[in-house]
Amino acid sequence: MVMDLYKGRFNNKTASIAHEFNSSIGVDYKLYRVDIKGSKAHAKMLNKCGIISDEEFTKIDSGLDSILLDIENGNLEFSKDAEDIHMFIESELTNRIGDAGKKLHTARSRNDQVAVDVKLFTIEASKRAIDLLVELERIIFKVAEENLDSVMPGYTHLQIAQPVTFAHHIMAYAQMFLRDISRISDARDRMMTSPLGAGALATTTYEIDRDFTALELGFKAPTLNSMDSVSDRDHVVELLYCLANVGMHFSRLAEELIIYSSQEFKFITIADEYSSGSSIMPQKKNPDMAELLRAKSACLYSNLMGIMTMLKGIPLAYNKDMQEDKEYLFDSVETFEISIEVLKGMLDTMVVNSNRMREMAHKGYINATDTADYLVKKGLAFRDAYYITGSIVKYGISENLSLNEIPLEKYKEFSEVFEEDYYKFIDLDYILNERKVFWWSFS
Ligand code: ARG
Repeated sequence: MVMDLYKGRFNNKTASIAHEFNSSIGVDYKLYRVDIKGSKAHAKMLNKCGIISDEEFTKIDSGLDSILLDIENGNLEFSKDAEDIHMFIESELTNRIGDAGKKLHTARSRNDQVAVDVKLFTIEASKRAIDLLVELERIIFKVAEENLDSVMPGYTHLQIAQPVTFAHHIMAYAQMFLRDISRISDARDRMMTSPLGAGALATTTYEIDRDFTALELGFKAPTLNSMDSVSDRDHVVELLYCLANVGMHFSRLAEELIIYSSQEFKFITIADEYSSGSSIMPQKKNPDMAELLRAKSACLYSNLMGIMTMLKGIPLAYNKDMQEDKEYLFDSVETFEISIEVLKGMLDTMVVNSNRMREMAHKGYINATDTADYLVKKGLAFRDAYYITGSIVKYGISENLSLNEIPLEKYKEFSEVFEEDYYKFIDLDYILNERKVFWWSFS
């Protein structure tokens, strides 16, 4: 039986449709672990400050432990009759331990309770996000290390530009994710203050110890303004922004995996384990996982927009609007966590077709810039060299000859300075070796 909390003040029970609308347990049950953690710290502080007795504390503490155990073992079901997870656990505690349970909520409001729960959840999710991104970085490093010599065309405007290696290309993503890691840990630093003790909005007259609960829960200090404490969800917004940004990077990488695995490119082959087939076309192997990764960024963006829009018009301090924060938060965290696992698996198992990449790197007059640079080294001004090279490319296109195939006599018609050493200068491996590429690693 869930307690009927409002029966002292209300004449009538909440309409069932209103209860259904108001109740959040279907969503916020996911906070049960952090809620119990917060309550245990609060009870310990109440006891330390002489507000509850040793005996009451022991009952509350072990009662909360038994609830946690039963939830985790599947022996306790969340009741739909409860308004939210906080009321459910409090009511279950009183059912189990009797009157001591009724003292847990002394010097606390659900407003600072839910604020601390959400903050703890957000901090834990941030930590997991950083760990997962580090794991992703390791896989990217592995792929890069295996492809230090895999020459491929580098693109601008998706037109062949200059030769690069696949290692160079994939390590661009390592930089993006490194910035994401730094952004999340920076946001996490700002999350490290505890709102517990702010009460409903105006603190409490009990002699509580906010420093104690803050440190007990792993925060650095208590928050400084109680009204801000219960109405602040900046930490959720910040994490959701960071995850939306990660989603944008996932989406760009996914788009390349889709293009590069197409028949036209064939630069990579995505493993069967991370592909789907077609119900009608027997030959098909589709990059569905990469397409979904691309689409999931939209969910991550919309959760960020959702929470910011929800928060923008609410006056101080707590308002029920804020109950909706969890749907955005949980959805972004879950979307991110499954997305990154899929991406890690896909990158770890894909095959890089370096022969095909090298073949394509010979096309599209990829060494034209190096031809111009050759002329500059022979004393021409860059603009003149650029013009001459453009004319050579036009000639090559008309004769269907690559720059390596045009004979020296022909080059000399464009400029006297061309010599036999030119062909070495436009060789792909030579070009790559001459370029100054920075490397960095975790070690
Ligand atoms: N379920 C609520 C939430 O998540 C708890 C806070 C309720 N507070 C209140 N004053 N009604 O926001």
